[in-house]
Amino acid sequence: MTLPKRACVITYGCQMNEYESAVIERMLVERGYQLGAPPEEADLVVMNTCTVRARPEHKVFSQLGWLRRLKEKRPQMRLVVCGCVAQQWGSGILARAPHVDVVIGPRDLASLARYLDGQLGLGQLVATCLESHPFVATPPLVRERQVAAFVTVVEGCSYYCRYCIVPYVRGRATSRPAQEVVEEVAFLARQGVREVTLLGQSVNCYGRDGGGGCCFAELLRRVHQVEGIERIRFTSAHPRDFDEELIETVASLPKICEHFHLPLQSGDDAILKAMGRRYSTADYLRLVGRLREALPGVAISTDLMVGFPGETEEAHRNTLRFTAEVRFHQAFMFKYSDRPGTRAATMPGKVEAAEKQRRLEELVAQQNRISAEINAVLLGEEFEVLVEGLERTGKFMTGRTRTNKIFHLEGQAEVGQFVRARAERSYLWGFRGRLVGAA
Ligand code: 5AD
Ligand code: SF4
Repeated sequence: MTLPKRACVITYGCQMNEYESAVIERMLVERGYQLGAPPEEADLVVMNTCTVRARPEHKVFSQLGWLRRLKEKRPQMRLVVCGCVAQQWGSGILARAPHVDVVIGPRDLASLARYLDGQLGLGQLVATCLESHPFVATPPLVRERQVAAFVTVVEGCSYYCRYCIVPYVRGRATSRPAQEVVEEVAFLARQGVREVTLLGQSVNCYGRDGGGGCCFAELLRRVHQVEGIERIRFTSAHPRDFDEELIETVASLPKICEHFHLPLQSGDDAILKAMGRRYSTADYLRLVGRLREALPGVAISTDLMVGFPGETEEAHRNTLRFTAEVRFHQAFMFKYSDRPGTRAATMPGKVEAAEKQRRLEELVAQQNRISAEINAVLLGEEFEVLVEGLERTGKFMTGRTRTNKIFHLEGQAEVGQFVRARAERSYLWGFRGRLVGAA
């Protein structure tokens, strides 16, 4: 039996999934697969899935329905489901979608490698062990002219916020040995990567489980020493664990970018408590104040959720008021959805769908106004931009500022270059402007 050779990797969900898809892609390339085949022509289709809200999970099952029809026409096609839906549903995926060949949980990627090597046979397979060591030796695939890359440093989460499915599908927080992280970052730098983003569901709890060998601040110091890496980011930081040592560390290390993603979720103290977030709005405001003091010009982004069980109109107003006070540079905003097995799924006080929609629209409208205002104030300023490639229309080179704003460049620039550019137009998403020189 020869294994199929043309592969297609479809990725849903967060940056951690993007990272894992890049690892899967390297596994495939190392075994002679050609990537990027359209699903209609692929011998192997890998779907890397997300279950954080109901919607991405629905998408997975509708895509699986479509793939069933493809497989009826080409029964030799192999279909692998990885990621968080794979973990959550396990063999239930095979019951609902019997055309799936292999189900692999996010902590069991080593089993995917064994499957690809033919060590697990050709029958249907479910590998969703949560206890195993989650990190595989395979580094992520680096594409040609790729300048920014993700590196997972903590897998799983031990917080058990009441709405969140992550601890159930990715297990408790497990830190990756610092030495492995540093080696992977150095490997990426040798491939031309200039910016790394360290990933964890709560990345700043790195080391607490004893697995890393040092604390998060120390990990940052070690990654900072890697030659060739010029920018370091990390996400997501849990606001509760952004302590003074970490603030001083990020302020003292020049490669760490002045942008932090600090999920707030709600601006109402009773809701924060019900969510099990372990901080108050006052704590959060204090942290933002300290960061702004330590790093002038810092950009702070967040995640917000409307319609958590028990969220009253007044609580929603509190979120509007609080987010207007903080003035986030950017926010990712969601409607709460029940996730099976979480505490919130069985809580009373569910908010009606139409009401959640209304609250979301109100919050989005306010946030769009704030983001646009913040960017407009920065017109005329010069930014350091790391050039990443062409933007969608192909007219401008595009990159990002240290504060994580997209910047479309007018003028000649090479991928991987650091340039200085002046913001001449501002948008909700960032800027456009002229190149003024090398950084
Ligand atoms: N419903 C809606 N949004 C959720 N998130 C996590 N769980 C849920 C849920 N059950 C959001 C949070 C988190 C982001 C990744 O997804 O805002 O920070
Ligand atoms: Fe989705 Fe959460 Fe899994 Fe990421 S960790 S893929 S956001 S469910």
